[in-house]
Amino acid sequence: NYQPAPEDKFSFGLWTVGWRGVNTFGEPVRPPLDGAEAVYRLAELGAYGITFHDDDLIPPGSGAAARDAVVGRFRRALEDTGLTVPMVTTNLFAHPVFRDGGFTSNSRDVRRYAIRKVLRNIDLAAELGARTYVCWGGQDGAESEAAKDHRTALDRLREAFDILCGYVRERGYDLRFAIEPKPNEPRGDILLPTVGHALAFIGELAHPEMVGLNPEVGHEQMAGLNFAHGVAQALWHGKLFHIDLNGQRGVKYDQDLRFGAGDVKEAFFLVDLLERAGYDGPRHFDFKPPRTEDMDGVWTSAAACMRNYLVLREKAAAFRADPEVAEALAAARVAELAEPTLGPKETLADLMAEEIDLDEVGRRGYHFERLDQLALDHLFGVR
Ligand code: GCO
Ligand code: MN
Ligand code: MN
Ligand code: MN
Repeated sequence: NYQPAPEDKFSFGLWTVGWRGVNTFGEPVRPPLDGAEAVYRLAELGAYGITFHDDDLIPPGSGAAARDAVVGRFRRALEDTGLTVPMVTTNLFAHPVFRDGGFTSNSRDVRRYAIRKVLRNIDLAAELGARTYVCWGGQDGAESEAAKDHRTALDRLREAFDILCGYVRERGYDLRFAIEPKPNEPRGDILLPTVGHALAFIGELAHPEMVGLNPEVGHEQMAGLNFAHGVAQALWHGKLFHIDLNGQRGVKYDQDLRFGAGDVKEAFFLVDLLERAGYDGPRHFDFKPPRTEDMDGVWTSAAACMRNYLVLREKAAAFRADPEVAEALAAARVAELAEPTLGPKETLADLMAEEIDLDEVGRRGYHFERLDQLALDHLFGVR
């Protein structure tokens, strides 16, 4: 039946189901979606959370009274349904002032405005109980080299994160930041293009423990990278604070397909990894229902994101429980990698004294194809 329940921790961005289908060549195809309406619909479908950019919920330019009214209606919908707000983020990309970025715009007044915009929204995030604050710097980048001093941009980016962390500490909020890497689009080249770049950057911050990652399936794949490997490394560093699930087919524009509707094998191994690693954060969908869809199609697409996760979770569990898979894992020596290369009481002298039969070991086959085919057979539903 694959019916999602709140304990599955599925969440959606308000900007995903609310995406009106505008693209570079086409006008909006769908009506605006009210935030409270999205809460009711998502709760009905079995989600546990909703996330938003400041401007998704509160129309830019709203006065204090209009803002309070919108937030009040949204809160009532949350109370009615039990839906939570696990994460909040900021729109630092749509307004023309952000044409050269937010935290790293060459214009100092824009950088100062970007920080104000985030700080204001952090108060709302904390009020709504969010534990993660995502930062996606989509306009922080360049199309040319001389126009942006990349090293100085990193200085300003670090300055911004140090200010944000300082603010959260001063206010005593229980909130961590999650950086979302992306290689390009809308900028020709974006700062912190991959998981690896972002991990290295975090190590230079004043409070690295407060900052982790929000990797997105399609973004690593746009760079031709293996997403499951990127997530594994984020987990290894203790930095998988949040995740954006969606689908992408190869190195091209950001497709934001529904989860599962891209590289399905990588989706299978991603779910396998998240479940085995005990990742207990939200399974957050950041997708864009294609412009071909009307609102019915949007809800079909949203429900399918959750369904596909549940199907893959079941397939991955069956793969791991299969005795033939256990045998194939052993034949592939997968567990042997967990043995430290040097034994506990061994010295380098012991290692140096050892001999290897290069001819014999050179003939050793690893049987990875058998193991991989067993995974595909589970995925195809023929086992
Ligand atoms: C993208 C990004 C964005 C961010 C979101 C959070 O598709 O390029 O995923 O959707 O996740 O804006 O700030
Ligand atoms: Mn994307
Ligand atoms: Mn995203
Ligand atoms: Mn997106």
